[in-house]
Amino acid sequence: MAAVARHDSGVPSPLRAVSATRYVTPLREGGSLPGLVEADDLGMYVLKFRGAGQGLKALVAEVVVGELARALGLPVPEIVLIDLDPELGRAEPDEEVQQLLRVSGGRNLGLDYLPGSFDFTPLVRDPGPDLAARVLWLDGLVLNVDRSWRNPNLLLWHREVWLIDHGASLYFHHRFAEGWQPASTYRYDAADHVMLPVAGSVTEVDAELGPKVPALLDDVLALVPDDWLDDVFGAPDRTRAAYRAYFEARLADAPRWVSELEAARVARV
Ligand SMILES: Nc1ncnc2c1ncn2[C@@H]1O[C@H](COP(=O)(O)OP(=O)(O)OP(=O)(O)O)[C@@H](O)[C@H]1O
Ligand SMILES: [Mg+2]
Repeated sequence: MAAVARHDSGVPSPLRAVSATRYVTPLREGGSLPGLVEADDLGMYVLKFRGAGQGLKALVAEVVVGELARALGLPVPEIVLIDLDPELGRAEPDEEVQQLLRVSGGRNLGLDYLPGSFDFTPLVRDPGPDLAARVLWLDGLVLNVDRSWRNPNLLLWHREVWLIDHGASLYFHHRFAEGWQPASTYRYDAADHVMLPVAGSVTEVDAELGPKVPALLDDVLALVPDDWLDDVFGAPDRTRAAYRAYFEARLADAPRWVSELEAARVARV
């Protein structure tokens, strides 16, 4: 149960690397057509393809946000690096899937598959005000708009809520260009956030978790493979520095966005 072992908060540990041995089935729900694969450690993983339309930046966001969330004590399925031999797709009848496998040779992202999990909403089970506020705060920090009540990207497994699908977070990285600087403020609309009506104080969560983030950033960003990072700044560590600059700017702007979240929450609770 690797997922449970890595649930502890604290210093991020290096991502395990495995090789895919069998493509099992596409997960039809996902917009990026993630697939279920078996790997050489006999584990089953949800594979996010490097060749998917969302591109490598979606994989970067999965690692950065997933591992930051885990280090801050939130439950995230184990994230691994999955080496994929494009030949694995040969026998795949679906042409779209076959094409995706063909263009995704090399290092992809995998999430420990949580068997028997199902989509979580606060109607299924009350997450409690504390966890709800932590999820809402995290999503505000990383600009994750993919946690709406329509598409919560939360799974209920072993009576616990697990966070998945952070590929659309950190949307500022789509504007990376030479000379890029983080904006002093970013728009984040939480009106449809699945946790908004049930969350407790975001201000309290910010006071607890915000100060922990700077010390975690270098270790979290180090987990991203160099070849996944945008090369526009000339070196992988410069790209990592750009992500760090974003987080520093976002944390400096926290009094503003946290009070916005707080106002939206109080109006809804
Ligand atoms: N670790 C996991 N264990 C079990 N099921 C999972 C796991 N990760 C994803 N799924 C299932 O696969 C679906 C698609 O995954 P995910 O949301 O990560 O992909 P996506 O392509 O980014 O989706 P979308 O953009 O449609 O939200 C999830 O809604 C969930 O039902
Ligand atoms: Mg999803």
